Amino acid sequence: MDIKGAVALIAGGGGGFGAATARRLHAAGARVVVSDLDEAKGKAVADDLGDGAVFVRTDVTDEDSVRQAIDAAAQLGPLRITVVAHGGGGGPRTLDKESRPAPQVSFTKVLDIFLAATYNIDRLAAAAIAATEPLEHGERGVIINTASIAAYDGTIGQAAYAAAKGGIVSMTLPLARDLAPLGIRVVTIAPGTFLTPAFGDAEPEQLDAYWGAAVPFPKRMGRAEEYAQLAQQIAENVYLNGETIRLDGALRFTPKGAK
Ligand SMILES: NC(=O)c1ccc[n+]([C@@H]2O[C@H](COP(=O)([O-])OP(=O)(O)OC[C@H]3O[C@@H](n4cnc5c(N)ncnc54)[C@H](O)[C@@H]3O)[C@@H](O)[C@H]2O)c1
Repeated sequence: MDIKGAVALIAGGGGGFGAATARRLHAAGARVVVSDLDEAKGKAVADDLGDGAVFVRTDVTDEDSVRQAIDAAAQLGPLRITVVAHGGGGGPRTLDKESRPAPQVSFTKVLDIFLAATYNIDRLAAAAIAATEPLEHGERGVIINTASIAAYDGTIGQAAYAAAKGGIVSMTLPLARDLAPLGIRVVTIAPGTFLTPAFGDAEPEQLDAYWGAAVPFPKRMGRAEEYAQLAQQIAENVYLNGETIRLDGALRFTPKGAK
């Protein structure tokens, strides 16, 4: 797909991956909707991009809220690219130190924010993309979801997060199959450890030293721009479909993650 002139919706557009992707697609000529729950962060990204970028405050767990973001995108032109990159919290260990079980709601909440919300955006965005005129190859658009390498090698305390991200990996192919007749592709990125605000306020050098040590090559955390680069490549390459791509420098989590 030619990104120039395309409209892109970025869920979590004020965050590390989302902001980098909004910047990259905008630089390549897309008009972007920066959709985020955090007004200050999301608006700062859209304001910084200026012409062709708008912020829409969105709670990805709320259907009406997601519809508003998609409507805003459709007002900019035919929606072609949807990137799902919002964040959320993790869960506790299955048993605590006194062997008490984790509250069930701690599991379902993580599934709601990561897995169910991703499906919610995907299905609503797919309906908007389906209403557009087909481009070259009969392509109408692409949906890019964000999983994690925790989908494959989740660490201690990540049962819920790994289940949610594993769900995103598992639904990639059936979503692609559902949407193929309409020329809509679905591709998932499974990142390793990336230097984004999700890792807190510690100095980048400290984070790189701790988390980067376990990465075979390059021996550092990933950069949000590298996620954005892959998102752009996925959008541009019409033959990428129904697959999850690990972006992790060959990292495989140990039980504790890095050490
Ligand atoms: N950073 C990493 O190393 C890494 C690795 C693997 C997977 N991921 C995944 O990538 C995604 C983005 O991660 P990030 O590092 O960019 O996180 P981030 O914390 O930098 O950004 C997440 C953004 O999502 C927004 N958000 C949170 N709840 C929301 C809601 N209910 N509705 C709308 N927006 C909401 C936040 O305001 C924030 O701007 C997450 O799904 C995360 O699990 C990140």
